[in-house]
Amino acid sequence: MDAAPSAPKGWWTADVPCEEALCDELAAVLAEKFGVGAQVEKAWVRLYLPAPTAPSQWKSHLEQAVAHFRAAWGLPQSDPVRYGFCEDVDWNARWKEGFTPLRVGRRLVIVPTWEPYTPNPGDLVLTIDPGMAFGTGHHETTRLCLRWLEDVIAEWLHPTPPSLLDVGTGSGILAMAGALLGFRPVLGVDNDPDAVCIAEENQAMNPDAASVRFLTGTADAVRGTFSVVVANIQAGPLMAMAETLARKVAPGGRLGLCGVLSDQVASVLSRYEQVGFHAENRHQDGEWVLIALRARS
Ligand SMILES: C[S@@+](CC[C@H](N)C(=O)[O-])C[C@H]1O[C@@H](n2cnc3c(N)ncnc32)[C@H](O)[C@@H]1O
Repeated sequence: MDAAPSAPKGWWTADVPCEEALCDELAAVLAEKFGVGAQVEKAWVRLYLPAPTAPSQWKSHLEQAVAHFRAAWGLPQSDPVRYGFCEDVDWNARWKEGFTPLRVGRRLVIVPTWEPYTPNPGDLVLTIDPGMAFGTGHHETTRLCLRWLEDVIAEWLHPTPPSLLDVGTGSGILAMAGALLGFRPVLGVDNDPDAVCIAEENQAMNPDAASVRFLTGTADAVRGTFSVVVANIQAGPLMAMAETLARKVAPGGRLGLCGVLSDQVASVLSRYEQVGFHAENRHQDGEWVLIALRARS
């Protein structure tokens, strides 16, 4: 079969009505004859023919084959074959369409690697290619954490900057945003080594976040304490790691727990109160909540 000039990208479809009991048989016959895929539905068979071939090259052969099949099985010849076209979708491009520059809070702007962006004065621009890791800023929980980090640093009164631990760093978005906001030092940990690779790749595109360190592992693997700890994981793991996180927050330090649904807040809060925190406030976006806690001084 020759390619038609300027052929569209995708598949021609031919829907052949058929007795339900004979659909499998018809699909097998047509798939073999035309060397293409056939999908069996309740009372018809759909054939997919590659778009580079013009319908004029196969349509009459198909209709002859269908007529022959129907005659052999004593089926009526009246139901016409219906033709259509299925466009090829570039799923990668579709996915990227939904990820555009995003302003979060007062100064942070999250920009995908493939989008040009001209910053306004005072913008803190973070370039992100999420790869397979969570953390584009398009999820409510990530945005809650970013806004919270911006608030926390705005309220910081000491001359030395606060340190930051980001537990479950994913794409590294919170740790890197923390560095841009002025947290020092900043450490991002994730128990998924692939996430840490992606975080490091993102860091290479954000020279202003070069001071962030990434580590594969859980919070147990981290030495010392931090002025601020943020963990955007989920209620279950957050409850399980309460004692560990309590050891990582400096006396009087702050802890932001996110990935918690509104009906889980009470249980998470009560668990963290048991390990020495009190609630400062909570921030909600849709069904998601960030619980802002403070450790005993
Ligand atoms: C919801 S994503 C958050 C990503 C990013 N911090 C954000 O806010 O967009 C949660 C991340 O936590 C990691 N994670 C889950 N359990 C963990 C644990 N016990 N210790 C460290 N990381 C964990 C997952 O691999 C995942 O990358």
